[in-house]
Order: sequence, then C-alpha cells, then structure tokens
Amino acid sequence: MLPKYHHEPFLDFTVDKNRKELEAALQSVEKELGQNYPLVINGEKVETNDKFESVNPADKSQVIGYASKATTDHVEKAFTAAEQAATAWALVDPEQRANILVRAAAIIRRRKAYFTALLIKEAGKPWKEADADVAEGIDFMEYYARQMIELKDGKPLNSREGEHNRYIYTPAGITVVIPPWNFAFAIMVGTTVAPLVAGNTVLLKPAEPTPIIAYKFFEVLEEAGLPNGVANFITGDPAEIGDYMVDHPKTAIVTFTGSRATGTRIYNRASVVQEGQTHLKKVIAEMGGKDTVVVDEDADLELAAESILTSAFGFSGQKCSAGSRAVVHEKVYDEVVSRVVELAKELSVGDPSEYGMYMGPVVNQKAFDKITSYIEIGKEEGKLVAGGSYDDSKGWFVDPTIFADVDPKARVMQEEIFGPVLAFSKAKDFDHALEIANNTEYGLTGAVITKNRDHIEKAKYGFHVGNLYFNRNCTGAIVGYHPFGGFKMSGTDSKAGGPDYLILYMNPKTVSEMY
Ligand code: NAD
Ligand code: ALA
Repeated sequence: MLPKYHHEPFLDFTVDKNRKELEAALQSVEKELGQNYPLVINGEKVETNDKFESVNPADKSQVIGYASKATTDHVEKAFTAAEQAATAWALVDPEQRANILVRAAAIIRRRKAYFTALLIKEAGKPWKEADADVAEGIDFMEYYARQMIELKDGKPLNSREGEHNRYIYTPAGITVVIPPWNFAFAIMVGTTVAPLVAGNTVLLKPAEPTPIIAYKFFEVLEEAGLPNGVANFITGDPAEIGDYMVDHPKTAIVTFTGSRATGTRIYNRASVVQEGQTHLKKVIAEMGGKDTVVVDEDADLELAAESILTSAFGFSGQKCSAGSRAVVHEKVYDEVVSRVVELAKELSVGDPSEYGMYMGPVVNQKAFDKITSYIEIGKEEGKLVAGGSYDDSKGWFVDPTIFADVDPKARVMQEEIFGPVLAFSKAKDFDHALEIANNTEYGLTGAVITKNRDHIEKAKYGFHVGNLYFNRNCTGAIVGYHPFGGFKMSGTDSKAGGPDYLILYMNPKTVSEMY
C-alpha cells in the first residue's frame, strides 16, 4: 500500500548541498545543448529532417535542442499506435498503471536537480520557480496514482434482492494532450499521466517553446515501464498538426491548457462529429486569467503589498494565476501602491541561471512584443509608477512594470498580458472592490486581503473565481491541497490536482447483474 500523499517539499537553496547540486546540474545541461530530439511513435524514435529550435529565453543564441517537426502522416501513425495499444492497456490492473506513475516520480525525484536546471534553461524560470514546477509534476504523479487506486473498484450503489449493481469507471479513449510552456514540466506531466493512469492511450504534443523537457520526461515514462504505443510523443508546428489532432475521429478526449483563443478554437472544433467518428469528444480546457488581488481597508498592508508583488511578478507574471490587477480600498490605496512600487524596485531581473535572481526573461519574441505593446497601452491608460523598460538584445527581458490609477475597464485591467505588468484600480468600498474584481471575462484565481469576517463570507460566494485565496497571494496552488481550475472564460474548471479530476478521463459505467 502506498503511504499517504504529501506534496513534494520545496528545496531550500540557502543550504549549500542543494545549491551546489543545482549548479552542477546547470553545467551538465550546458554540456548537452544543441542536440537533436526525435518523435516517439509506438516506441520507435523518429527523427525528421525538418526541425525547430528550442532556445534559452535569457540568451537567444543558445539552442537548448532541435525538436523534430511531425507531419500529419506521423500523427496518423501515432493514432494507429495508440489505437492498437488501447485494449491491452485498458485491461492492465489500475494498480499496475498507478505503479508506473510512482516509479516515474521516484526517477524524477532522483534527477530533480537535472530537471530543474533544464527548466531554468529552456523556460527561463528562476531557481525557486523551476524547483516548484518540478515538485508539482512529481505531486501530480503521486496524487493521481493514489486516486486511481481509490477509484479502481468504482463507487457503491444500492442493490435489491437478487440483484448486484456496480458503478465502475472505464477508460474513455485516445487522449490528445496539449499543454502550455509556462508550467512546462508540471502541467505537461499532469495532463499526460492523468489519462494514462485512467487507462487511456495518449498523443502528447508539447508546447513549441519547451519540447526538450517534455522529451526528457517521456524517456522517464519509458524507463518506468510504460509499454510502447501507450503514449506517443509528437512535436511540431500546431498550425500544421494541431487541428488534425483535435479533429481526428479517433480522438476521444482533448486535454488542453493554454490561451483563451486556442482553447475556444479546440472546444469548437471538437464539437464537430467527423466522418467515421462514433462518439462525442470530451474537452478539458484550462485557459487564461486576469486575476485580482483585492485589498480591504482593514488589511495588514505589508501582507497586502507582498501578496500583490509575488502574485504579479513571480515567473515574470507568466502564470495563468498571476495577479495582474490589484483593487485597493481608497482609504489605503496610496499606501499600498507606494509600498508595492518600493518592493518592485528591489526585484532583481536577469539570467535566471544565477542563484537568487527573482525575475528572468519572458519566453520568446512573440511574448516580448505582446507585453511591451501593452506597456505602451498602459502608459496611455494609467500612471506609470515603476518599470516600463525592456530589452531584447540578448534575451527577452522586461522590467516589473506598474500602472496606478487605471480605470477598471481599461485594456490593461481587462486583457491577459501574461507578463510582468501590474495595474492598480481604486475601490470606494468592499462591494465596489468585488464588483471590479468580477468585471472581466475570466474567473481563474483571486485573493482578498482582509481581517473582516463578513467580507470573507461575502467574497466566498461573491468573488467568481475557481481558486479563491484569503490573506495570501493568488498563485502557487498545490496538488491535493488547492485543486486548480477556473470559471467563465478561464475554462472548464477541471480542478487539476483534485479529487474529481481523473473521472474526467473515464466513462462511468453501471453494471447490473441478476442472480
Ligand atoms: P497557447 O494557446 O498559445 O498554446 C497552448 C498549447 O496549444 C501549445 O501546446 C500549442 O502548441 C497548442 N496549440 C496552438 N494552436 C493550436 C491548435 N490550432 N490546435 C491545437 N493545439 C494548438 O498558450 P501558451 O502561450 O502556451 O500558454 C499561455 C496561456 O496558457 C495563457 O493564456 C495562460 O493563462 C494559459 N494557462 C492556463 C492555465 C490554467 O490552468 N488555466 C495554466 C497555464 C497556462
Ligand atoms: N498551479 C499554478 C498556480 O497556482 C498555475 O500558480
């Protein structure tokens, strides 16, 4: 029997041993830069001539690796492999499937420094953020393994005399996994292992900026004993293969995490029944956020400032959970804004492979261009009180940027920027603050800093987000502790890392036997 689930502890890099291990791992990663990486179809490594680069966002000249570009022919072969492997995999005892996840988690734990170092290089994550990302990936494996074991005999039903009724969960079918680059390890791992442990076969298509860490994880799954064809590794240009994978009549589930635009496109396309398709597809779509930290008049203002700061600027604001808007009661507004500005000016920005760097780069040129265009928009819409500068000469660096006195309906208060840009709006009272907090199309995370119990109760039901936090920041959900997913245009509220998640990958079945 597996021991009770606990989340993977975060490493303390002030401890010499931990710091030295990561420094050594960064050197090992440096030594293997620029290699070619294949697709994996039915266990076979397939290298294509056409490749794309994964580069270090902190140093554009550094190629992390060259990923193979799949064509639709490769994707077709992967569907065939997944279909052929499906029956045997679905019949594997769920406990054995769970054991593969636990073994993979153990392998990752042993190579934690390596995976953390690779994330630092490939995604531009600072040390602590990269360590948390790897820890979350381990957590997903450990948590879903246990959840599958709990679900393996189904749930109890009533039976009448002479009748035996059972309610069991069966695998739903071939799952197309489309993760984002921002939790290039955790979300990629979580959305891959959940369908697998539930008994489905998988096509994993990692995000273009971060294919190498996904390949290294795929190797771990093989090492942990995953049979050939059960998971297939497909890298490529989503413009060429994305629609093909979603539209494919053999696709049963699409599990997607990414932008609102891509998520709604997938949701729409998956609803069309294709020729030869004999089922309705399921879509799990976790999308963007425009998340708010609300500060009440009686709040602990230092806690408020720190919560706003970490929510807005952790991993350069490139989290769906990032608190990119702060709504502050007018009585404490000036004090909070000036303290956040003071703290933001102390944040270090630079190469994330340096120990202690708070903020690294943003992921690529497209992100840099988008973020910097919003900085220019913000200069028209509010008062620039911190940052506002950027530099893409070596890597894609943007300073922590803050706009004060922004109209709640302004674009920088409404649209997901996905970078280190924070906007402040002033509220007349707590009800007004909640009204502003709810006035976007998103509903992912939110935080309220208050000592007022009535306001906590009011926000509990009146602040429409999937993950609501009191007296802390709005990022950093932990598997099994803070199941994650959003309302409104933030997605289908799948609650990754929660007790209902695995069921999304299965078809419940009622079995009634007379005797
Ligand atoms: P994105 O939508 O650009 O890409 C996400 C994935 O979709 C990538 O793997 C990409 O290759 C793929 N894709 C792109 N076009 C496709 C198509 N036509 N068909 C199939 N797949 C396609 O998003 P991103 O830039 O990688 O990630 C950032 C976004 O993700 C932000 O909006 C962020 O808020 C969101 N996000 C949400 C959550 C959550 O849990 N809600 C978590 C992390 C990130
Ligand atoms: N799980 C991540 C967070 O909460 C997205 O920040």
